[in-house]
Amino acid sequence: MPHKKLFIPGPTEVHPDVLKALSTPMIGHRGSEYSELQKRLTEKIQALAYTKNPVIFSASSGTGLMEGAIRCSTAKRAIVFSVGTFGNRWKELADGNGVPADKHEAEWGTGLTPEVIDGYLAAGKYDCATVTHSETSTGVMNDLEALAPVFRKHPEVVWCVDCVSSFAGVKIEVDRLGIDIMVTSSQKCLALPPGLSLCTVSPKAEERAKGVKNRGFYFDLVNLLNFIREKNFQYPSTMTIPHLFALDVQMERIAKEGVDNRFRRHREMASRVQSWAKRHFALYPAEQWASTTVSCIRNTRGISVADLNKELGKRNLNLSNGYGKLKEQTFRIAHMGDLQMSDIDELLAAVEDILKL
Ligand SMILES: Cc1ncc(COP(=O)(O)O)c(C=O)c1O
Repeated sequence: MPHKKLFIPGPTEVHPDVLKALSTPMIGHRGSEYSELQKRLTEKIQALAYTKNPVIFSASSGTGLMEGAIRCSTAKRAIVFSVGTFGNRWKELADGNGVPADKHEAEWGTGLTPEVIDGYLAAGKYDCATVTHSETSTGVMNDLEALAPVFRKHPEVVWCVDCVSSFAGVKIEVDRLGIDIMVTSSQKCLALPPGLSLCTVSPKAEERAKGVKNRGFYFDLVNLLNFIREKNFQYPSTMTIPHLFALDVQMERIAKEGVDNRFRRHREMASRVQSWAKRHFALYPAEQWASTTVSCIRNTRGISVADLNKELGKRNLNLSNGYGKLKEQTFRIAHMGDLQMSDIDELLAAVEDILKL
């Protein structure tokens, strides 16, 4: 089967050197070689997340650590600030775990404002809050910089941020912003295959978790952090070691590109796709909220997105239909991970050719 280049918002394209690293012969997960690997990766992720907080790697996709985050951070009641499908997932996770939670859902296509958040937190009812950074379903990116002062004003609240589709593509300064738990997955801007996730945990979040009685088992953040410390950078169950080998190679590639160059490349690709979208269609989100890593484009021409994708497939290209209720009403072009401007140009030219734009 010829490979179709992925412009879907995860999984993203994986570089051949990274793919090769996945087939490195196995090492045991209880030896010093493994500990050194996890320790080295912890330090690299801390640098990329601008944090001193410990890093938990998990042999699950990001949803697993999101579950652990909301469950372990809520002693009283959580408030979920949603701007789309993945924001709503936090509420489903809370409900499924018996965690008391309320949800604020912004009008789709718009992001969160500090005033809305402050309005909820001021009552003192909540001790955990969740925010999605880049909402992959609507292409909305929340402005963490603008929201951070509100969370600083409410230190009783543990702030959990879903950075699944933004981390490693957008600069996220975890410590300066005061993010207590930052969760991400391997298959988006980190450009690894799916199956690994990670989160950073602040001392405040860890203290909170210690006071939460039913933290589950697999995603018990206290247990995970204790294990990492006691066993010198190991994981309680069997880690997805191939992903760690791959991440090791990928972090070297990221360092070689330079993180600022990487962030700039993401901004430039977003700008190229979004000005193209405005020329031929329209953006789904209000422009100020348009995400740097994935563009959600309104299907103003009433094209069949499924047919477009079929034609693109013949050229070994693949974009994404709208998510859930936005299917066919929108389509999405991801500009994340290791994609280059030349890839974006190739895709946009192919769409123009197929649709005779
Ligand atoms: C914003 C966002 N949050 C959470 C998730 C879920 O992540 P995972 O599929 O790694 O569990 C996704 C996946 O697409 C996402 O885009």
